[in-house]
Parts: sequence; C-alpha cells; structure tokens
Amino acid sequence: MSADDVGRLPDSRAEVAFIGRSNVGKSSLINMLSNRKALARVSKKPGSTELLNCFEVEGVGTLIDCPGFGYAAKSARVRDATQRMVDRYMLERKQLTMVVLLVDGEIGPTKLDLEMLGWLRESGVPHSIVATKHDKLKAAQRGKRQRDVAVACNLAPGDIIWVSAAKGTGKDQLLSLVRVWLSLAP
Ligand code: GTP
Ligand code: MG
Repeated sequence: MSADDVGRLPDSRAEVAFIGRSNVGKSSLINMLSNRKALARVSKKPGSTELLNCFEVEGVGTLIDCPGFGYAAKSARVRDATQRMVDRYMLERKQLTMVVLLVDGEIGPTKLDLEMLGWLRESGVPHSIVATKHDKLKAAQRGKRQRDVAVACNLAPGDIIWVSAAKGTGKDQLLSLVRVWLSLAP
C-alpha cells in the first residue's frame, strides 16, 4: 500500500527505505530484491513514484520505495512538499532501521546526492550507499569509478554496494544486508 504521510503508514516491525534522485533506479532495485518485474512501478519518465510505497516482506518487515528527489520538471512547491514528507518519514519513523541512498553509478554522485548524504549524517539517520546501474559501466572504467564514488562520499570503496537491477549484480549481497537491517527492529 501507499501513504502520503508518515502518520498514515501501515503497521510494521521494521522498515528499510530506498531514497535517491529521480530515475536512479529505486523501484527497479525493489523489484530485483523481490524477484518481481513490476511490483514497484518503474518508468523511463522520472518522478513516477510520488508516495511512500510499502512492500511487506511477510514476517520480516517492509521495504519502502520513496519518491525521488530533484526532479526539475515538477514545480518547486511540489518538490518541497514531497521532500518534506520524506524527511519527516526518515526523522520520525521508529521502525526505520536503514535508509539506503542510491547514487547513479553511471554518472557518480551529484551535488544533490551529496547534500542528501550530508543531511543524513547531520541528522543521525542510519544510512548506507548503493551505487546503481553497474551494467552501464565498461569493465575498464569500473575500478576507477568505484574509487571515485567512494572518495566523493568520503567513504572507503568497500563501503559502497554496487548493484545492477538489469543484470542482478549485487543482489545476494544486498539481500543479506536487508535481512540484517530488518532484524534490527526496535
Ligand atoms: P523515480 O520513481 O522517478 O524516483 O525513479 P526510480 O529511482 O524509481 O527509477 P526506476 O527504477 O523507475 O528506473 C529509472 C530508469 O532507469 C528505468 O528506465 C529503468 O529501467 C532504468 N534502470 C534502473 N536500474 C537500472 C540498472 O541497473 N541498469 C540499467 N541499465 N538501467 C536501469
Ligand atoms: Mg520509482
């Protein structure tokens, strides 16, 4: 189900939320983790996720697909209201055990990504970084890009989880992490 405010979310034991720029691949990643093609709505058109979309993993917890940030074609007013909703969710939701910030592995972290990362750090929200679209990098680019993304985020390369929803890269690694995060229920 979906909610337009943290106060209207359904009950859950524990939640892992996926955030990131519009089009970075949040919905695709949730589909990969759940072995489904179209559980979460995927679109070439950015800004297609507008609510907090909840996907219950039976008996374990809930994955939350959040609206993307920074979609320029939406009015500033809509963008601000949506971001406030997501920020409130991240600050207030007791069951939220991990926020997964997705960065586009093909283009690297943008200014907006780094602002969000700074906000997560300042706010003390538990977070992890996933770099998406690994399949879009040429083999020769991969090592350097992995180092560059880590340096930009002020992390070690091993701290960043690389995935490809298109190829299934990183799926097992991320699934075991998600299980651990969901087991941290309050
Ligand atoms: P919003 O809902 O707008 O915030 O976007 P989102 O972050 O949910 O992105 P979504 O999953 O809808 O994917 C956006 C586009 O990127 C789609 O065209 C996807 O097919 C494509 N995409 C997502 N993940 C991958 C990937 O691992 N590899 C490749 N090649 N394309 C991907
Ligand atoms: Mg989406």
